[in-house]
Parts: sequence; structure tokens; C-alpha cells
Amino acid sequence: RLGAVALAASLTLVACGSGDDGDAAGGGETKTLRLALNQTEQHPSFVALDNFGKRLEEATDGRLGIQVYPNATLGAQQEALQLVSDGTVDLAIVSGTQLENLNKDFSVFNLPLVFDSIESQMKTIHDPAVVGDLYSSLEANNKVTVVGGFTQGTRNVYSKKGPVNTPADLSGQKIRVQESELHTSMISAMGASATPMEFGEVYTALQSGVLDGAENNEVSYVTQKHYEVAKFYSRTNHLVGLDFLIVNSDLLKGFSAEDKAAFDKEWAAAYAEHTDLWAKDTEKSIATAEAAGAKFNEVDAAAFEAVLKPLTDKFLTSDAQRKIYDAAQSAGS
Ligand code: GCU
Repeated sequence: RLGAVALAASLTLVACGSGDDGDAAGGGETKTLRLALNQTEQHPSFVALDNFGKRLEEATDGRLGIQVYPNATLGAQQEALQLVSDGTVDLAIVSGTQLENLNKDFSVFNLPLVFDSIESQMKTIHDPAVVGDLYSSLEANNKVTVVGGFTQGTRNVYSKKGPVNTPADLSGQKIRVQESELHTSMISAMGASATPMEFGEVYTALQSGVLDGAENNEVSYVTQKHYEVAKFYSRTNHLVGLDFLIVNSDLLKGFSAEDKAAFDKEWAAAYAEHTDLWAKDTEKSIATAEAAGAKFNEVDAAAFEAVLKPLTDKFLTSDAQRKIYDAAQSAGS
């Protein structure tokens, strides 16, 4: 961990020392923004963000660029969030679960069954009337602004032990969850024993038997190679996950109006490209996993819904949360 922080610090020095990264097309300097990502270069998020950076550079005549650091080389998400808050790293992709720890209102989007499709999720999370206050809520205390999000697709449970059909099948199994109180309760409600852990540690923990399983989308199941060690992927379909793009608030305030407009426009194109890639990569991932012997099965959906529904009332405690929840629900109808 210290290594990642030291690396991020030295990157800042390099960037400052060279007066950022040299001449832009117009004779000015290119500011290359550093973006922390915990996915591989094959993941749709890397591809869409890398293309975002290229388009941004073109649209700003070389004034702004983005360098994406994949594989959590700048730190796992918790650290990346802190580095963006400090201004050591400019941008990061963090899971919704990370922001829930700073402002409980974010937990609405992390609830099981809150979105009924990727389309309604993307519509809700990019509607300023719904998310305007939420996305600026971390600026005062954390200097973090939420720009928007990428879908994580539907998340499902997978296990080394065998196919899961009902919550009873998860009894006694140690299932990894993201570092979130809500998701810890969710996996407990689904019958398993929840083990919070950062993403990058899951493969080894599955391999060594510290974990019996985890829950994630098909793309991460394959890019992280979890399918090699946990062969039974069961469609619990418990939630449509969400990643946020966050930016250091001071940095964002320093953009000229022209550059901010280019940033917003190219970001909108980036999440559209990501959503498109997502569907294709999900299909490809299923094929890859099946070819390697992974088994996919449907579950008793009603049995899971029955244990998951009560979490909504337990975790929706304020009017602000209820308003966001209602907007998410009506986007699907
Ligand atoms: C997905 C998601 C990541 C998250 C990961 C996890 O891959 O896109 O942002 O970190 O799940 O389960 O931790």
C-alpha cells in the first residue's frame, strides 16, 4: 500500500518537474490528468477512459489529456479516493460502495434490486435533477466531485462449492463483499457469511480457500480470472452495480469554461461507449468462462427477492434517500 502511495507521489513530482507534459498543439502546455483504475487494460472501463482521454486532448487542442493507470497501480479504490481528495491523483473510478462510506445518500444506488436495467440506471445517474446535490455533496469536506458513472452490469454470486439455487445453498459459505455495510448485510441476508475485502485480493483468497466465493459481474469474473478458481456462477441478479468517475474539486474548478464543456461532452460520449461495450463484453466473458469449464445457472429468483427486499426499508432512512430511490424506481417503469 505504501508503495502505491509513494508511486503516486513521485508521479506528481515528475509531472510538476517537467512543467507538466510539454507543448500542446497551440504552443501551450498539455496538462495530463492522472486517473486511477482498478481494472485491467482489457476491461471496458479502461478502453472507454483511454478513448475519453484521446478525444479530450483533441477537443482542447492538447490542453488537457488523461493517462489511465490500470490494475490499481496508484492504489486500491479506498486509497485512490483519498489520493483524489488530497489532489495527488486527479481522477479515479470508484465503486458506489466507497462513496456510501462518506455520505449515506450514495447507498441508495447500492441497494439490491434498485435498478431494473442498465438503461434505467444510466438514465437516473446522469439526470442532474436527481443527482445534482448528491454529486456535489462531497466537495466541502472531501474536495471530491462526482462526474457521473459507468454501469457494473448485474452482479451475481459465484462459488467454488457448487451451483447456488436458494439462499440455503449459501449457508456456511464465506463470500467476499466490497467494503460496505449495506453489502455486508446484503450477503448475510442472502444466507452466506460476508467477508469484506478489496478487489485485488479476491483471486488469491479464492485460490487459498480463505473465501468460498464472491459476487460480481461476468466481465470482472473473467478479467480477474476468478472463473479459474470458482467455477459455479449463479444468476442471483441481486443488483446492477455502479462505478463513479470522481475528480478533485479544486482541479475541476480551475478548468476554463471551454475546457469544462469539452470535458463534459467527451465524458458523455465515454459512458455511452462504455454502455455499448458492456453488453458485448458480457457476452464474450460468458463464452470465455464456459469454454474454460465454468457453469452458469439460474436461481430461485423469488426466494432471493424475498430476503433482499427488506433491506430497502432498513437502509432508506432519510427523505433525501427516499427521493433518489423513487427517481431510480420510476426510471424503470
Ligand atoms: C467491479 C467494479 C469495481 C469494483 C469491483 C469490486 O469490478 O467495476 O469498481 O471495485 O467490482 O467488486 O470490488
